[in-house]
Amino acid sequence: MSKIILETERLYLREMTNADFGALCRIMQDNETMYAYEGAYSHREVQEWLDRQLARYERYGFGLWAVILKETGEMIGQCGLTMQQWKGAEVLEIGYLFERKHWHRGYAAEAAIGCKKYAFETLNAEEVCSIIRDTNIPSQNVAVRNGMEKEDQWIKHFRGVDMLHYRFVVHK
Ligand SMILES: CC(C)(COP(=O)(O)OP(=O)(O)OC[C@H]1O[C@@H](n2cnc3c(N)ncnc32)[C@H](O)[C@@H]1OP(=O)(O)O)[C@@H](O)C(=O)NCCC(=O)NCCS
Repeated sequence: MSKIILETERLYLREMTNADFGALCRIMQDNETMYAYEGAYSHREVQEWLDRQLARYERYGFGLWAVILKETGEMIGQCGLTMQQWKGAEVLEIGYLFERKHWHRGYAAEAAIGCKKYAFETLNAEEVCSIIRDTNIPSQNVAVRNGMEKEDQWIKHFRGVDMLHYRFVVHK
């Protein structure tokens, strides 16, 4: 059994394991879902992504977690906390990525709000942010529903492309 991290009304978040590879492929090999990441991931890129989360659990005690729908027990997305580089500093970020068929039901915002509480109450963080590509409006809407405001912007280099990103922040 992998470790359960937090629970919300309709969801729980737990650590991912290698057994989640198939569910991750369903999420990350869809071009529309992955447009903010310059397109679908290959099998190798999904495995590297998963390995990176397992390494984060070891190093920090947190990372992107599996989001499980209580009603069915299925993994519908990922949401969690990671350390990210921002203008030469390390910042605590809430990230989210959901399987397309589970969009538009409020699950991402519900999971993100749970992660914000975890950051403030369990990790004792003073602030938490979401770093979002300028074109990614659904993700910005989740940040706003999570009580965040746009504070800053920066060009990030990712998968060989320069991308303008905004940093949405909420303080304790
Ligand atoms: C970012 C992402 C998770 C947002 O998904 P989403 O479905 O728009 O967000 P939510 O799950 O919070 O759902 C919000 C929608 O559900 C609706 N909704 C329906 N039932 C609801 C309920 N019970 N409670 C709350 N909202 C509900 C809201 O009105 C809102 O509607 P809208 O889509 O018309 O704005 C999704 O677009 C995604 O996975 N994108 C690809 C990955 C990505 O870009 N990640 C972010 C990188 S920075």
